[in-house]
Amino acid sequence: MYFPKSNRSAFVNFLRSKYEMWTGEVLVRTHPSYMGIDPSSICQLRCPLCPTGVENDEKKSGRSISFRERTFLNLEIFDSLIDELGEYLFLVMFYNWGEPLLNKELPAMIRKAKSFDIATEIHTNLSLPLTDPFIDDLLNSGIDDVAASLDGFSQATYQTYRRGGNFELAKNNIERLAKARDRLGLKTNIIWNFLVFSFNEHDIESTRKYCEQIGITFNRREAFIDRPEWLPSYRKGELDPNPTVPTASENAATQKRITTPCAWHYNYSMVNANGSISPCCAPWEQKHDFGLIQPGQIGFTDIWNNNLYRKSRGAFAGKRVKGLEKLDTLCLRCPYGHDIQNQYSFNDDQVRQRFLDVYQDTEPLLYRAFSLLENPQAFTEFFQANSIDNFATAPVLVTFRNQDNSPKLNRAETSNSVFRLPFSKTWLNQALQIWREKGLGVLIHRTWQYIGRTIQK
Ligand SMILES: C[S@@+](CC[C@H](N)C(=O)[O-])C[C@H]1O[C@@H](n2cnc3c(N)ncnc32)[C@H](O)[C@@H]1O
Ligand code: SF4
Repeated sequence: MYFPKSNRSAFVNFLRSKYEMWTGEVLVRTHPSYMGIDPSSICQLRCPLCPTGVENDEKKSGRSISFRERTFLNLEIFDSLIDELGEYLFLVMFYNWGEPLLNKELPAMIRKAKSFDIATEIHTNLSLPLTDPFIDDLLNSGIDDVAASLDGFSQATYQTYRRGGNFELAKNNIERLAKARDRLGLKTNIIWNFLVFSFNEHDIESTRKYCEQIGITFNRREAFIDRPEWLPSYRKGELDPNPTVPTASENAATQKRITTPCAWHYNYSMVNANGSISPCCAPWEQKHDFGLIQPGQIGFTDIWNNNLYRKSRGAFAGKRVKGLEKLDTLCLRCPYGHDIQNQYSFNDDQVRQRFLDVYQDTEPLLYRAFSLLENPQAFTEFFQANSIDNFATAPVLVTFRNQDNSPKLNRAETSNSVFRLPFSKTWLNQALQIWREKGLGVLIHRTWQYIGRTIQK
């Protein structure tokens, strides 16, 4: 996917977050470069290997399990998140535990993300009624990739996994999207994502041909499968029918998982529909989440450096975090391993390419840092020997008050009060002096050096 980001601070943040990852920083100054933001944890389908589908299925049969709050992301949380992090984000993936197109605010969210030059994508089951104006609105929002999950090419094969789904409806919707894209003269990449199982393997070629015909991308994908009869022919034997207790060497392998850094602690993050932050995209139970965004009170950065994050980063870096010795987090027992821990790092090549397009000739220091990314040790040494981070900036949320201490700005205007200042107390003090000279009382909510409490001046 093409990344349109061009502000220098996003590239500096990207490089610095790599530095913080490879040096195992516990308290970070940087922000994620890629983010999953889930518009909806609600879904209408019952896919049997998806926790949301399982929860829906249980409800249908009268039982009740609840892995997480089922809700739509609201614009207030979304806006506060993008106001805080939009400067640094290269990519927002609008999906995780539900059906994104059920949230009718999605086009507005994408528009806002695009105003920060962020690349955007959704994964959708497309098995829902969509009006023509909504389709146009979605495409006109500037969304880059619309990936539809259709695992089969007939109702029979499709519904084996997409339980409750309507194949003709979803297929018709993908055609409508392709036609609307062409009519509107847009370049949106429309993708047919096909998870391969034993029951739909024979549909692959017909689906591929159909995608060619209607001018969309066909993308076959490997599914997570935990029942042997669903493994496609070329994966047979992958599942052990008699799993045994882990051996000592397997336990050692588990330990090894947390001796290399996890990119989710530095370079990317997952925000759920209720505003909670998960340590990565895989844990489906809310009880493992690390914190809850509350616009105006608790921002992403507050959670990003809270005890759970610091303890998790420390554990991966082999560092003891004073005062948090007894704190437990899912990351300490990470069940996912290297692939999930680095799931989105393949996007780093796109960031580097974009940097070359924009800054190759004008930023020799950053150019050298980018060229050393393949070699973490050389990269860290170079970073330490130079002061790239001196040029970085961070958001500082400021509320101006009248002399009588009543808030001067109303809620709608508070986003105007996010300033970006270099990582330097001198700059902050200079800004404070200027604001005070203008007769403004000033409340600083967060500064570049997060120290675990609100700083009031
Ligand atoms: C949980 S879904 C949420 C988005 C949307 N409802 C959908 O299904 O596309 C996110 C992604 O997980 C994929 N997914 C669902 N079940 C899967 C499985 N068993 N193995 C791998 N990916 C799976 C979906 O196809 C989709 O790409
Ligand atoms: S459509 Fe997506 S979110 Fe819904 S149950 Fe299936 S995989 Fe899960």
